[in-house]
This record gives sequence, C-alpha cells and structure tokens, in this order.
Amino acid sequence: MKKINIPTTFYAYNTTTDLPLEIQSLMQKAANVRQQAYAPYSKFQVGAAILLKNGQVVLGSNQENAAYPSGLCAERTAIFAAGANFPNQEITAICISASSILKDTLEPIPPCGACRQSLLEYENKQAKPIPIYFMGKSGQIIQSPSVKNLIPFTFKEDSL
Ligand code: THU
Repeated sequence: MKKINIPTTFYAYNTTTDLPLEIQSLMQKAANVRQQAYAPYSKFQVGAAILLKNGQVVLGSNQENAAYPSGLCAERTAIFAAGANFPNQEITAICISASSILKDTLEPIPPCGACRQSLLEYENKQAKPIPIYFMGKSGQIIQSPSVKNLIPFTFKEDSL
C-alpha cells in the first residue's frame, strides 16, 4: 500500500471588494440572478454567472420541479446554456452565489458533485482551466483555480 497525495490549493477572499474588478462584477451578476431562482421547494437559491472570452456573460439559477429530480442546479443551467448558445467561446471564469431564503447563508457554497462533473466536461473541452469562485449570500469567497482542482480523480473521455 502506498499513500497518494494530491495537493490542492484554494484562495480565500474576505469580501467581494477584495476580488479582481472583473470577478467582482461577475459575482454581482451571480448574486442578482440567484434571486430569480425557482426554488419553491428547497427555498435555497443559487446563481451562477459564466464569463466568456468575448466578454459575454451567461447566467443560470436553480430551477426546481414538483418531481424533485427533474429540477436542475444553477451551475448546470448556466453551463448548458453556454454550451448550447456559445459552443466555441472559451470560458474565462465562473462565479456562484448561494443562499437560503429562510436564513442568510454566510459560508461559501461549492458546486455539488454532479455540477462539478458537468463543468469538468467543458474545462476538458477547452483544454484550459476554468477558475471557479463561490460564496454564500455574503462573506468569504473561495476560488478554485480549475474545476479539476475540485475533483481529485476525474472521470473523463479517456476513461471510456
Ligand atoms: N443547488 C444548486 O443550484 N447548485 C448546487 O451546486 C447545489 C444545489 C440547488 C438545487 C436545489 O434547487 C437546491 O439548490 C437545494 O439543493
């Protein structure tokens, strides 16, 4: 038996004003679109904003359904919209903001496992890391320099 160490590095920012200006603006868009989430069941609203190389921004929020598994997370709503509408545009960064309607969520909320897998596909497709910034309603922001950085072992095209 051999121990395998997979080092990961994340960056923490205390407040949004510490973020680079372009990312500050992207995070603001994620926070705004979060409030348009359709989350009547969980009352948990998530907003995702994707910055493309051409400067366009693609937004997504979680969309729930009475048949619970038919709903979709904000990150996948946004990344699939980007893939569908701008298939050849490189993704420069993704910001995520999440909070419950019932209480202010102050800790950073990372993308769920299924969203990580979906985001990974597009990172691999463009062969360039996509930095992900995630936060709650306010407070600390965590930056992961890539999607892969959030997944120690990845299932990808070569795995098939
Ligand atoms: N949700 C997201 O939008 N993104 C995540 O990464 C985790 C969870 C949504 C799905 C559901 O509408 C609500 O948050 C509660 O799980």
